[in-house]
Amino acid sequence: MVFKLPQIIGHRGCAGYAPENTLAGIHTAADMGIKWVELDVKITKDQVPILFHDDDVERTTNTTGPIAEMTLDEVKKLDAGTWFSESFLGTQVPTLHEAIDAILERDLGLNLEIKACPGREKETAEVVLDELSHIWDDHNRLLISSFSHVSLETAFDMADDWNRGLLLTAEPPENWQEFAQHLDVSSIHFNGNDANSDFIAALLETGKQLMAYTINDPGQAHVLQSLGVRCICSDEPDVIMDGILTVH
Ligand code: G3P
Ligand code: MG
Repeated sequence: MVFKLPQIIGHRGCAGYAPENTLAGIHTAADMGIKWVELDVKITKDQVPILFHDDDVERTTNTTGPIAEMTLDEVKKLDAGTWFSESFLGTQVPTLHEAIDAILERDLGLNLEIKACPGREKETAEVVLDELSHIWDDHNRLLISSFSHVSLETAFDMADDWNRGLLLTAEPPENWQEFAQHLDVSSIHFNGNDANSDFIAALLETGKQLMAYTINDPGQAHVLQSLGVRCICSDEPDVIMDGILTVH
């Protein structure tokens, strides 16, 4: 079997329906029949990989402060569910290990985005890849992505045969093709809400697999698909699934 991105990936688990980057999100995606999830990983002060998106805990927990300054014990006391809905009261920030257990149990593929806190790009990639090397076997269903070239380069140095994805912002650097080549990525991930057809043509010309994020409008998913983009990352993957043609 070769590495092939699925057509739909649940963004931050299944962020439209469950608090982002939680076990509840992973299970929600699996319950919908989604085959892959995208999750963001950081490390705690004491170097434990956890699922978390922001550098500060304010938006998605019941307190405030920089996550890089918190130990795992402190992170585990946070409520990462109530901000989303009272029904998720008591939801914890999961460790990467807990998330992988759930992903393996539900037989999902994983796009793991290394979302290091500033200055921790190399360290985060090192700790995450080291942990994954002990708990993940099927590299056709694992993709390590990042906006950080330092994190991707570290992943390349540690495990050049693992699949990597280059994340581009809505305003990519001029030499993004060189980065994709240099980092030997399997895929390029771009903001599919802002991209125009010329940019998508340039992306397709690289021959890399493409993932468009974060698409919650089935009409836009359909446009992207008609331009040749196979993989859509969405907060509402069920809506996208209903709106696009299934291609094998
Ligand atoms: O990996 C795609 C997407 O998750 C990138 O943006 O900010 O949602 O992590 P963000
Ligand atoms: Mg992400």
